[in-house]
Amino acid sequence: MAGLPGLQLLPPEVELETKAVLKQLSRSHRYLAELKGYAGLLPNKDILVNAVTVNEAKDSSEIENIVTTHDQLYKAMAGTSQVDPAAREVVNYRRALWRGYQLVQEKRSLTINIFKEIHKIILENDSRIRRVPGTKIINQASGEVVHTPPEDYDEIVRLLDNLEKYINAAGEETDPLIKLAVIHYQFEAIHPFYDGNGRTGRIINVLYLILKELLDSPILYLSRYIIANKAEYYRLLQQVSEDNNWEAWIDYILKAVEVTARNTLKLARYINELVEEKAEELKRELANIYSRELIEVIFNEFYTRISDVQEGLEVTRKTASNYLSQLEEIGLMKSEQVGRQKIYINRELLKLVKANNRQL
Ligand SMILES: Nc1ncnc2c1ncn2[C@@H]1O[C@H](COP(=O)(O)OP(=O)(O)OP(=O)(O)O)[C@@H](O)[C@H]1O
Ligand SMILES: [Mg+2]
Repeated sequence: MAGLPGLQLLPPEVELETKAVLKQLSRSHRYLAELKGYAGLLPNKDILVNAVTVNEAKDSSEIENIVTTHDQLYKAMAGTSQVDPAAREVVNYRRALWRGYQLVQEKRSLTINIFKEIHKIILENDSRIRRVPGTKIINQASGEVVHTPPEDYDEIVRLLDNLEKYINAAGEETDPLIKLAVIHYQFEAIHPFYDGNGRTGRIINVLYLILKELLDSPILYLSRYIIANKAEYYRLLQQVSEDNNWEAWIDYILKAVEVTARNTLKLARYINELVEEKAEELKRELANIYSRELIEVIFNEFYTRISDVQEGLEVTRKTASNYLSQLEEIGLMKSEQVGRQKIYINRELLKLVKANNRQL
């Protein structure tokens, strides 16, 4: 590897806004803006955010070969004691995402400290920047080394500082979606941690969109697109390192944004329709217990605990339990014993989100 130039500081010294990139850029912006607008009008935004982040946590972890199912996931999310380890990792990923979102909103910046905090939650351990040499990125299929990230600690820190400045620069000229692609490459190429760089980097992506106000809530995730176009993802990252080929990489990320924005928009519409349809059904069939708050509680996650209804509606445990039993009788919810507690699954919501997760 001697003789090869190391990783360059940002910004890249080539023209990024090529014709091909600009063409794709306007499409990506259009659908992203549509998604932001639509999500902003939803009566309860948490419903969409929660549904989408479950799929993202699942997909992003799947890239790392942590495979779990929605059914294992809601059990883990409901906080039962015996949790399948893969599901636990996915739940950690989701927690990391929420924490990152909270921090970016609070600080209005996206810093190395935030990277570390996210990373720490994902891997459930301390998140020290690499000091021991020997980390290499290997092509899983061929076993060949595709990238050797910087090994010197000071060099890693210098590159991270540079990345942090690039992310938070005010009055920047370069389009934020182009910068998203640059940031993702650079973070992965620096590879600051021993492990978990992919997952941390994918969370940084959505946080950057929020920082730049391209979204108000964390609802756009590229992991599903990356799974569907995985070989290309790795190949294009490598091409930036080897040939300084930014154009193809940026184009890939921009397409990922477009496809994902369209897909998420579709899901948002379906969820909204489902919520309204079920609200009408409840009004008709269970007029005695119907309220908007009840609808919102049972759509907040795939599963609802008795205590969720109790707290959300400020009713007694007995009343809450009675409401859920009635919802089960009309077939909207299905109860399940998980560990010591009983949870109620929102069958239709689960079905919808599962189906959407298979698309793309
Ligand atoms: N040639 C390359 N140049 C730069 N980064 C790369 C290259 N090939 C892969 N990567 C990045 O390295 C990540 C994997 O790193 P690491 O194992 O630390 O993260 P992870 O979160 O554990 O894994 P994964 O991303 O597979 O879930 C990939 O997701 C990708 O973003
Ligand atoms: Mg890994």
